[in-house]
This record gives sequence, C-alpha cells and structure tokens, in this order.
Amino acid sequence: MYNRTEIKDVLAGGHLDKEITVCGWVRAFRSNRFIALFDGSDFNTLQVVIDDDFGNEDVLKKIHFHACVKATGKLVESQGAGQKYELIANDIEVLGEANPDEYGLQPKAMTMEYLREKAHFRMRTSTFSAVFRIRHAIAYGIHKFYNDRGYYYMHSPIITGSDAEGAGEMFQVTTLNMGDMPKNEEGGVDYSKDFFAKHTNLTVSGQLQAEIGALALGKVYTFGPTFRAENSNTSRHLSEFWMIEPEVAFNDIYDNMDLAEEFCKYLINYVLDNYADDVAFLDQRIEKMERNMPKEKRRPMGLLDTLKFVVENDFERITYTQAINILRNSKPFKKGKFEFEPTWGSDMQAEHERFLVEKKFKKPVIVRDYPQSFKAFYMRENDADESVPGTTVAAMDVLFPGIGELIGGSQREERIDVLKRRVEAMGIDEEELWWYLELRKFGGAPHAGFGLGFERMVQFITGIQNIRDVIPFPRTPGSAHF
Ligand code: 4AD
Ligand code: MG
Repeated sequence: MYNRTEIKDVLAGGHLDKEITVCGWVRAFRSNRFIALFDGSDFNTLQVVIDDDFGNEDVLKKIHFHACVKATGKLVESQGAGQKYELIANDIEVLGEANPDEYGLQPKAMTMEYLREKAHFRMRTSTFSAVFRIRHAIAYGIHKFYNDRGYYYMHSPIITGSDAEGAGEMFQVTTLNMGDMPKNEEGGVDYSKDFFAKHTNLTVSGQLQAEIGALALGKVYTFGPTFRAENSNTSRHLSEFWMIEPEVAFNDIYDNMDLAEEFCKYLINYVLDNYADDVAFLDQRIEKMERNMPKEKRRPMGLLDTLKFVVENDFERITYTQAINILRNSKPFKKGKFEFEPTWGSDMQAEHERFLVEKKFKKPVIVRDYPQSFKAFYMRENDADESVPGTTVAAMDVLFPGIGELIGGSQREERIDVLKRRVEAMGIDEEELWWYLELRKFGGAPHAGFGLGFERMVQFITGIQNIRDVIPFPRTPGSAHF
C-alpha cells in the first residue's frame, strides 16, 4: 500500500542514501524533532529526524507516544551516538493519533497488572513486544525441532468426549438450553439430544489421540490449545494454555527423558541464537528491577546466565523415592520450614520442587518413577521393587528453576490387562475409552511421550514472573477479557 520498508530491513543496511518510507508507532519523541519509531519487525527502533524544512506544525502536534506514523525521506548515516542510521524525513503523516490525555499508556514504567487491563495496547511496549517475538520464536523452534527429526505434526481434536487426564477438570461444550435441559429416564441430562448426541468437553490434552498417531506414523507431536477448569489462581496456571505433546513408538521412559532434555535445550538455544536483542533487553529489565531488592529476593543468576547455564549442563535425574529421601533429610524439613511434610505416597508440593531445583541441585531436575496412587491411569506400571514402599509408574516430571513443573510425561501402559485394571480401579468409564483400549489389542507397542506447557517455557526464556504476561489474552478463573 505504502511501499514501506520494514525497520529490520532498514537497520540491516543496504538502503543508505536512498529515499524510503517507513511506517510504525512512536516509542519516544524528543525536542520536537527526533522520533524513535518501531514497527514490530525488530527490537531496535529507527531514529526518524524531522527535516528542518518540514514546516507542518499541525502534524508535529499529533506525534505522541504510540501514535502511528508514516515517514518518507533519505536514509543517512547517523551523526549521533546510539544508532548507525537515521531517516531524514521530509514527508510525515500521522496515520493514527494517540491523544495522551485519553490513551491509557505512558512512556514510563507501568505495572504488569495495569497493562493486563490494557491488553489491546500492551504489545506495543518494549517488554511485551520482546515477549511476543520470543513466543513466536519458540513456537517456530518447536516445529523446526520435530520436523528436523522426522516427527509428524498431528492435530488432536479440541472438542472431545474423553477426559485424557481423568482429573475431571473440563469445560463442557453444549448447545442445550441451560434453562430447560432434556432429561433421561434416570432424571439426568439427556445428552443424546445435544449437538454431538453425547456429552462433550474442551480437551485437557491431546495425548490419547497422539498415541493413535504414534502407533501408525511412529513419531508425532501435537501443538495446540488445551483447557483446564481448575481453580488455580497462581502465576503458573492458565485456564487456556498451549501444550506440545510428542508421542513416540518404541520409546521407553529413558528415551523420553533424553528427548525432553534435548528439546528444552534446543528451544533455549534457538531463542539465544535468533533473538539475542530481545533476550538482552529482558535480561537488563530484570537486572534493573532487582537492583534495589534485598539479596535473598533477587534471582541467583541473571536471565542470560541462567539460560546459558541450563543449555550447558546436564539435567539432574532422580527417582521420586530419592527425592523424598533428600527432602526428608533437608535442612528446611528438619527446621520445620516446609508447610507440607514430604511423605512417600503424596504428591510433591511446589515448595518441595523448588527446594530440589533451586537449593539442592541448582539446575533442572527430572524426577521419575512416581507412586501410582496419584498419577494418571495411562502410565506404565513398574515392576515391583523391594527397596520402594509401594507401586510406582514410569512417569517423569521435568522441574525448572523459577517455574516448577515444565513437563509431565510417561511411558504408556501397553499391556491391555494392566490398563483395564487401572481404568477400573480409577472409576473411569471404559466405554468412552474403547478405542484407546483397542489400540493395545491390535498392533500395540511400547511407547512414551510427554507434554510441555508452552507458556511455562515462554516464562522461563523471557524471565517473566506471571504466566498471564506471556500469552496475548490470558484466561484465568474469573477473567476472560478481550
Ligand atoms: O502434567 P500434565 O497435566 O500432563 C498431561 O497433560 C499429559 N497428557 C502430557 C503427556 O504426557 N502427553 O501437563 C503437561 C504440562 C505441565 O507439565 C505444565 O507445564 C503444563 O502442561 N500445564 C499447564 N500450564 C499452564 N496452565 C495450566 N493450568 C497447566 N496445567 C498443565
Ligand atoms: Mg503434571
């Protein structure tokens, strides 16, 4: 339309002494002369200098923070420090005004909470632009990682009749009239009258369908939105989040751990290699934020150092039983500092995971072989082991510093008799899973996979504290704006 040149392109060189047009938004305007312009293509802004001959005061009066501007002129080498090039603009048009008296954002520090209420504008700030460029980078890196290794991207359904995790945390999907639900003979809702002629919900995980893919295509992964109606108001939980779920035939729990570690490191490296400016900005942002904090509140390492440390070191690998022993012998436990007692047979609490990752090992930790009692029905039962107090399953969680659980996965139960026993013991409707059971009966094979919480990975790589600030439009209990 305007035959514009993108700022990334301008900054890359090749346009010197040429006349070009750029379009973007104002990050700063000083001395009624210098505009720092961004258009999203690059972390860095382009300095637009208003030509002395440009006499249109009416236009200049409309140049404000985040107004949209089109500027045409000659690209020259910059006289000032801080940038290589600048555009001497002799033609400027304000495409979209942003009256500072009415526009909610200002060119100064604003809280993340405030910006969340302004999610239609927050992507324009330096911080959120950087976060969302990195979010894109990770998404692309995911596809590249799996494509390069011969995996197939598989779309699992968003509307489904099954509860993959068996945890009952689902959003129901229905077109029935809530005020006048058709009743069946037992007095319950007659879902045969519903849109899909059955009870349906939004998916909590694409895993069960991915298993179908793995037992046909060998190596698959899903990457899509998942929904959980759990009432968790924390900085790590969303009601709508994205998950990546690789599923691989002929892999066991150890192959699964190797894949998880390689995958995490690849994504971090991909961002470090391709989006260094954005990471550097976020690194400095955290440093500035923490400068005036007491030492014990600050992060032990800067963002960049943390990322490099994680890719350069092996993840720690321990069993759940070892983890419980470590926790029970730890100083915080002996001094009564844990809110919850670490006992074999109960799930680890966030405080326990944090101790293992941030205090004990000071790096990512993969915990495996959890008690069967609090894990999902599909996880493969381990052989009895006398040194362990109870039955365990070949499950693994990858715990990350500052994040806690980043990945949950397992080897899957491929033995139909064991699986049926588990389904029954957990009170799950076998009929809903008929196809999942048949997958064991015909051409079954050992297989394994895991789910990586996409937003938690974005949080880790950007160093952003609250998960609501790494997704464009967060959905959390009591909140679904925009
Ligand atoms: O541990 P989860 O529940 O595992 C599964 O859903 C398996 N079906 C995965 C598999 O084996 N294919 O979830 C996997 C990951 C968690 O480790 C966490 O990172 C993320 O998904 N996650 C959430 N992220 C944001 N908000 C929530 N409410 C989340 N719940 C889980
Ligand atoms: Mg989990």
